[in-house]
Amino acid sequence: MDTKKLRAEIEAAITAIKTIEDCNAFHQKYLGKSGVVSGLMGSLRDIAPEMRGAAGAEFNAIKRDTESRLFKLQEEIRVREINEKLMNDARVDITLPDLGRDVGNLHPITRVLREVEAVFGSMGFYVEDGPEIATEFENFESLNIPKNHPARDMQDTFWLSNGSVLKTHTSASQNRMLKKYGPEFSAIFPGRCYRNENLDASHEMAFFQVEGMMVGRDISIANLIYFMRQMLAAVFKKDVKVRLRPGFFPFTEPSFELDASCVFCDAKGCSVCKKSGWVEFCGCGMIHPRVLEMGGVNPTEYQGFAFGFGLTRLAMLKYGVDDVRVFNSGNLEALAAIK
Ligand code: DAH
Repeated sequence: MDTKKLRAEIEAAITAIKTIEDCNAFHQKYLGKSGVVSGLMGSLRDIAPEMRGAAGAEFNAIKRDTESRLFKLQEEIRVREINEKLMNDARVDITLPDLGRDVGNLHPITRVLREVEAVFGSMGFYVEDGPEIATEFENFESLNIPKNHPARDMQDTFWLSNGSVLKTHTSASQNRMLKKYGPEFSAIFPGRCYRNENLDASHEMAFFQVEGMMVGRDISIANLIYFMRQMLAAVFKKDVKVRLRPGFFPFTEPSFELDASCVFCDAKGCSVCKKSGWVEFCGCGMIHPRVLEMGGVNPTEYQGFAFGFGLTRLAMLKYGVDDVRVFNSGNLEALAAIK
């Protein structure tokens, strides 16, 4: 086999290629299964054994060279065809200057939310969305907060004319979750909450919470502590301790306030934790039997924990933001500076 002649032939064929169709035809003729170059390999057995090694090496080199030439050419033709299309397309003016390289940022609340969702999701929790408007039943009654109960005063509510409310807490979805997934499930449901607050550095009318529930046969507060520590460690990228203090919520019994060790001073004591080493983080407890019952779950067979924490507050702690108003300010520069 005269490989010099073959190389020259290939060279001539490649030079003649103009289009992608030509490339395909070339590939079939030379590199395809029954192509010329593949045929070379088959002819090895007719070559005297002492020459076979050198011939094989040369055939392989031809194959490699041809493939890489063809590959390069295909790329060039593709780019050229795209450019030609663009040049001839009256709708696209590629001579316009570009619009600069400004890129967007995710809102800091979105960033923390994604971390929280990822860590709970990885531990088997459903992640659910909820509506902004809740019925009186969802926001209050199903949570064991009857009409005229003083606990309704804990939250300054925006009432709508039809008797519904802008949900004052994500707990408003507990009843729906129990009915949808009960009696055994774990879920978090983040959402925006609304309260008729006077705005200041630590009060917003619209803020985010993340609610969580785990219901089953052998659920305890020890499980809750474990999940909260996992979440805090994922968000703050370090070990965070938690402690419980007694609290009161009509929808949990017993109820607790959960504190996290201060991430700013590693619990040594600073202005954020008011020298205590701890920051208040969330309300939680064992779900009240009445709440389970109203959600269609039998409280003599099943129990569970619930918690609700301020996602906005978590973002403040994570990014060291000391004025909550920045999040809803629409001030893109200030928001982009939160890293
Ligand atoms: N809904 C309460 C609030 O907004 C927070 C809360 C406390 C949620 C205890 C819970 C819980 O699920 O068990 O203040």
